[in-house]
Amino acid sequence: MSIQSAGTAPIALISGANKDLGFAIARGLARAGHHSVDRLPRYALGDKASAILCAEGGQAEALVLDVTDDTSITVAAAVIKERFDRLDVLVNNAGVALDCQVAVSSLRTVMRDTFEVNVFGLACLTEAMTPLLAGSSRPRIVNMASGLGSFALNSDPDHEFAKVKLSAYNTSKAGVTMLAVIYAARLRDRGIKVNADPGFCATDLNGRSGNRSPEQGATIVIKLATLDDDGPTGGFFDETEPVPW
Ligand SMILES: NC(=O)c1ccc[n+]([C@@H]2O[C@H](COP(=O)([O-])OP(=O)(O)OC[C@H]3O[C@@H](n4cnc5c(N)ncnc54)[C@H](OP(=O)(O)O)[C@@H]3O)[C@@H](O)[C@H]2O)c1
Repeated sequence: MSIQSAGTAPIALISGANKDLGFAIARGLARAGHHSVDRLPRYALGDKASAILCAEGGQAEALVLDVTDDTSITVAAAVIKERFDRLDVLVNNAGVALDCQVAVSSLRTVMRDTFEVNVFGLACLTEAMTPLLAGSSRPRIVNMASGLGSFALNSDPDHEFAKVKLSAYNTSKAGVTMLAVIYAARLRDRGIKVNADPGFCATDLNGRSGNRSPEQGATIVIKLATLDDDGPTGGFFDETEPVPW
């Protein structure tokens, strides 16, 4: 697709924005005036997603990014540096839930592949984008966590999802919230706010079993991605309130 000039629009990178929550977040940020850059291992899909956002009057473009591939991350950072010389918003949305594949794959493989995307990929992408975020006047990072990664909610036998004990996914999402806490503390002096949020939305990740739409799930992400300077950092939120760790 053709690349559009971003002008003065805030620049947002959303990993895994070719569908579902990532696409809904990119759409919401594009509507809020951000220039969304999304990720697509399958170029045609991401290209289509960007084209939809542009057709709706937003600014968006596709970027090839595989968070498990350091070269891909480095190239993505270089492209953003060359194109925009800064990044305003990073949404660490890319994620997998592979536990249901235990029957066809070893537990070790499921654990490793889940952590490669959800934890290692998130950390490496965040580190690579931090210098670009430091060039923003209002830098924000949002980690797509999950209530399934909450120690408190997992320990509550009466919690709505108490029976969902996915050893790889839940553990990886606990890592995602920990990384939000770590980066929030580490980047506080540079004004970079880092928060995490959960949600249960009907997407490919859960066989469309979620009870909310991706657009509903994207609401809190967009809010955290566009926080005012007096907004929180190092927190874990759903749409209405803080979520217990
Ligand atoms: N759905 C929920 O209820 C829910 C609840 C809490 C948290 N979350 C989190 O929200 C995020 C999005 O979930 P979703 O439900 O929208 O899932 P989804 O429909 O499965 O979409 C996941 C996205 O991540 C991308 N992705 C996977 N591996 C990647 C990699 N190596 N590099 C870059 N991108 C990669 C996928 O791209 P491809 O399709 O090209 O592989 C896809 O765009 C995930 O982090 C998930 O854990 C979801």
